[in-house]
Amino acid sequence: MELITKAIRGTQDVLPADSHKWQYMEQTALAIARDYGYRELRTPVFEHTELFQRGVGETTDVVQKEMYTFKDKGDRSITLRPEGTAGAARCLLEHSLHNGALPQKVVYVTSCYRYEKPQAGRLREFHQFGAECFGTAAPQADAEVISLARAVLTGLGVTGVTLHINSIGCPTCRAEYHKALKSYFATREEELCDTCKDRLGRNPMRILDCKSPVCKAIAADAPVMLDHLCDDCAAHFDEVRACLDAAEIPYELDTGIVRGLDYYTRTVFEFVSDALGAQAVVCGGGRYDGLIEELGGPHLPSLGFAIGLERLMLILEAKGVPFPEPPRCEVYFAPMGNAAVRACFGIVTRLREGGVSAECDIAGRGLKAQMKYADKLGARYTIVVGDNELETGRAQLKDMETGTTEEVALDDSLYTTLYNKSLDRQLAGMADLFGSVMEG
Ligand code: HAM
Repeated sequence: MELITKAIRGTQDVLPADSHKWQYMEQTALAIARDYGYRELRTPVFEHTELFQRGVGETTDVVQKEMYTFKDKGDRSITLRPEGTAGAARCLLEHSLHNGALPQKVVYVTSCYRYEKPQAGRLREFHQFGAECFGTAAPQADAEVISLARAVLTGLGVTGVTLHINSIGCPTCRAEYHKALKSYFATREEELCDTCKDRLGRNPMRILDCKSPVCKAIAADAPVMLDHLCDDCAAHFDEVRACLDAAEIPYELDTGIVRGLDYYTRTVFEFVSDALGAQAVVCGGGRYDGLIEELGGPHLPSLGFAIGLERLMLILEAKGVPFPEPPRCEVYFAPMGNAAVRACFGIVTRLREGGVSAECDIAGRGLKAQMKYADKLGARYTIVVGDNELETGRAQLKDMETGTTEEVALDDSLYTTLYNKSLDRQLAGMADLFGSVMEG
């Protein structure tokens, strides 16, 4: 039975008690991105395997070790997306979005799949909030994208994150850098893991991103890309830094960032949290000026980032960041007898149509059990409806917090009564907030 009552390793459920937190996180991020001119894009969960092989890169850990790849019944090789950028780029090309106004700014919330060793903050199914800005080579775009990632984190109340930036150059200056790396790693080739031995010939920069402790230690003393940038890449990076300074966005220069995906060029960045332990990178991104061409499109310099939502949630919880209250039932109707059940069902339906969260017994229970259930739901008000109430058209509305009752009419005026009460509470909440802000 365990097979059907246990989720697959590295996946997790979001339970009803927590889903409002996820909705808040995602909606806040999407609303902030909207202010930056980003519109939501939705792409399929699976794509042709070749898209990721070409886009993400054959020598990356993601493609070599971590993809969920399978043959479908038509014998096509299909892969569950390990990240969102390649699919967004494929979609841009397929629908010729790049023929519209440039830059094209898109944002997405997606599930991603990587066969990694699960641990805190590292899952096999995880979710990303990502943003992509297609069709601009200007360094101001780099600063804007970084500013958006930061705005999402700070907009959610995240503290203790540091922005790390680096430049990994363009194919021209990287060719020189590869030579320097090759001669450095060649002296230690025997010690490298088998995958990195292969990478040495094909893409030595990937060795800098290897997770094996031995390769990591060797990579620590390797030459750094920043010392090998061509004039154009150096000027670009200087301007990105100047824009970040102008916007008072603090950052640390981190020559160790190479990113784990092959499409990156020039600016790369990560936001690192002090609350996450080993998996400290909550957001990663950068430029990918050659990706669109690599996928058969025109030269279209572009860039973006993705925030890991499970990691973001871990930070929000670790930091005790406040979430909005979970939604609760506004009014619970407890009918007694068949006629009352039918009448209450009618009233509840009308209230719901007006946007009031109303519930009524649908389990045929007695009054005591119903009140227990209303209590568990956290219903704000309850109304008991029996023969007497049906006859008079009036009932007692009980405030479950204060225990006080008041008589209300069981007609459409009930909607106004409940609506006004909810408005009063919101105004009182705002007054409290305003008061504490003034005091603070
Ligand atoms: P990435 O660095 O591979 O970049 O992933 C982005 C973020 O996703 C990471 O910083 C992390 O928070 C989260 N993440 C990655 N793997 C896992 C995992 N196994 N479990 C939980 N969270 C994870 C990309 O995916 C690029 N597509 C980002 C990008 C967009 N670059 C340009 N545009």
